[in-house]
Amino acid sequence: MAFIVWNPSISVGIDSIDAQHKKLIGLVNDLADAMKDGKSKEVLAKVFGGLVEYTKEHFAFEESLFRQHGYGDKEEHVRQHTELAKQALGLKKDFESGKAAVSMETLKFLNAWLIDHIQGSDKKYAPHLIQKGVR
Ligand SMILES: [Fe+2]
Ligand SMILES: [Fe+2]
Repeated sequence: MAFIVWNPSISVGIDSIDAQHKKLIGLVNDLADAMKDGKSKEVLAKVFGGLVEYTKEHFAFEESLFRQHGYGDKEEHVRQHTELAKQALGLKKDFESGKAAVSMETLKFLNAWLIDHIQGSDKKYAPHLIQKGVR
C-alpha cells in the first residue's frame, strides 16, 4: 500500500496544481517503497534526488503564478518554500554523507512536510488564483 494516499481533502481545486501535488506524493511513495524493498543506497539517492528536483520545479511553478496574478501573501509563501526546499536538501545530504538513513522517521517527516504545506498554505492561495482564472 502506498505510504501517502491522495484524497479529496488534499485538493486545492486547481487541476494543474493538484496534478503536481499528486506527482510529489508519488515521489515520496517511491522513496517509501525503495526503503521498504531494501534498495541500494544509489537507488535511494536517485529517488531522493528526483524528489528534491521536482519540489524545486513545483515551487517555481507556484511562485510564477503568484507573480503573474499578484498574490498578496507571496512573500510569506516563498519564505516557506525556501525553508521546505532547504529541509529536503538537508535530509538528502545527510543521507548521501552517511549521517542518516532513510527511515520511517524521514518518511513521516516528508509526509508532514508535504501535506501540512498543501493544507496550511497552498489552500490559502487557491481562491485568489481560481478567481483569476487559473485551472
Ligand atoms: Fe504546492
Ligand atoms: Fe506552496
